[in-house]
Amino acid sequence: MKHFSTFLLIFSLLTANAQQVITNIPGRHLFTLNGKWHYIIDPYETGYYDYRYKPYDESKHPSGGFFLDKHQTSKSELIEYNFNTSPGLIVPGDWNSQDNKLLYYEGSIWYRKLFDYKKSNPKHRVFVHFGAANYEADVYLNGQKLGKHIGGFTPFDYEITSLLKDKGNSLVVMVNNQRKRDGVPTLNTDWWNYGGITRNVDVVEVPETFIADYTIQLKKGHLNEIEGMVRLNGPKKSQKVTISIPEIRLSHTVITNAHGVAHFTFPVKKLVLWSPENPKLYNVTVSAATDSVSEPIGFRTIRARGTDILLNGKPIFLRGISIHEEIPIRGRRAYSKEDAQLLLGWAKELNCNYVRLAHYPHNENMVRLADKMGIMVWEENPVYWTILFNNPETYTNAEQQLTDEINRDKNRASVIIWSMGNETPIGKARNNFLRKLADHARSLDSTRLISAALQFHGDTIPHHLIVDDPFAKHVDVVSFNEYVGWYDGLPDKCDSITWDIPYNKPVIVSEFGGGAVQGMHGDTLTRWTEEFQASLYKHNLSMLSRIPQWRGVSPWILCDFRSPKRLLPFIQDGWNRKGLIGQNGTKKKAFYILQKFYKQIEQQEKK
Ligand code: GCU
Repeated sequence: MKHFSTFLLIFSLLTANAQQVITNIPGRHLFTLNGKWHYIIDPYETGYYDYRYKPYDESKHPSGGFFLDKHQTSKSELIEYNFNTSPGLIVPGDWNSQDNKLLYYEGSIWYRKLFDYKKSNPKHRVFVHFGAANYEADVYLNGQKLGKHIGGFTPFDYEITSLLKDKGNSLVVMVNNQRKRDGVPTLNTDWWNYGGITRNVDVVEVPETFIADYTIQLKKGHLNEIEGMVRLNGPKKSQKVTISIPEIRLSHTVITNAHGVAHFTFPVKKLVLWSPENPKLYNVTVSAATDSVSEPIGFRTIRARGTDILLNGKPIFLRGISIHEEIPIRGRRAYSKEDAQLLLGWAKELNCNYVRLAHYPHNENMVRLADKMGIMVWEENPVYWTILFNNPETYTNAEQQLTDEINRDKNRASVIIWSMGNETPIGKARNNFLRKLADHARSLDSTRLISAALQFHGDTIPHHLIVDDPFAKHVDVVSFNEYVGWYDGLPDKCDSITWDIPYNKPVIVSEFGGGAVQGMHGDTLTRWTEEFQASLYKHNLSMLSRIPQWRGVSPWILCDFRSPKRLLPFIQDGWNRKGLIGQNGTKKKAFYILQKFYKQIEQQEKK
């Protein structure tokens, strides 16, 4: 009997790793594990290997790995770690900003949380859900390994029903943020490698057969037809499931098949479409005999037609800004609703109707608030710069992160673009890698636009820039990052630039910008002054306005952000200074240049 239960546990662990994350976590009954966790810093992997650098073997090394969360039970016992007397870290939150000793730390840290949990119904099932942990997380409950998650910006969860105790559960998570050549992203990035359990951790209780996944959106190109799917997880696979939108007295029932799945389309009238001007959200309920879950969902269509981007069939210009997931004033990862309100509130103040969430999936609060505020979103997979494109495991990793990103946000009206990557060097392996990712994204979601920050060159005719990237034929929107006036000449160089963009597709300039120290003033040719940055914005906006297919822009970047690459003393000091808002939260002159430019566009569109 013992072997069979071991087999079952191993099987459940394997499938746990492969299982898809539960949809709509915020709509579930949650028991939060946020707060203080004890931690042990472990640069030498002591908690994972015995001194012979071998994985712990319980029979040979009684104290075992840190995941056993052992306590001394007799005066002679030797245990060389103790979570109870170890220091604390706050979850959610990166470790770098919580303790100066950890600012540059790259390695393993073991977190431990003790908690009691009594199920509300003995037949229910229980999962532990993580919003994200950067970069790899090994998760254990009561000494048993639940699984390993790779990827610093996507959610994951594990079923803990069979391991949970009413009292004294020990959840141990080993997080390692070391950058890896074959990782996604790879070794080199222009952002801080914040490590830790950076987003919420919750215990999620669900019925024995529960609604694990659903997609409910307008069918591609149809304003009066909803298309979607629902999937049940549990023994009662085949059930009647009802999708209802009470506000328009809509109720549609389907029957899930033997696999617990049902696909559906049904007509819908009198829908108020979601838009930046009117971000209408409907309370949608999905209910089965054994489970029910609700969430606010907006309905809109997005498509590219020739060189236009059409929202609900009407051309739109994307007045955007790029954003890193960071709160400048505190120099830490953003994660909360308040953080999202601060960052998107600044974007609104800029007269934005769009944001580019760079260079990885941000926390779910950002996209759910964007839904409410009427801000369209470009979401990005961290396929950034020199990824190991010819490595199959790297592709599998990138595809899994993209899958988890799309599965989490596929019901968010605000999300209109999935970006496959950023400034990746052209090559056969890279072209294939990105094309496969784009095909995979479309297989999961055919309704949104695909893009990526592509390559261009200017080595033929002086001041003539040509967007020429083999991946351009696989995207719906051609995007690129240009730095004329910063890395390429001075701001007035923009005035003599001509662009050649030989694609009959909309163009979004996904980045332009330059650095300024907030509060540093001088003339427009003095580098690092606010005046230089403001002049750069004026010249760039005038240059881009001359591009006939120009349909959007997300200048780099809303706020100054930490980067280990930015080392100029008294100017950068470990910060990238291209923000329109300084490290202290104060706006620079260029903020108002862009704000005025967007106001003019908005007023022209209203005429
Ligand atoms: C690149 C890159 C950004 C980087 C920026 C810069 O375009 O996409 O991640 O921060 O340039 O140089 O500041």
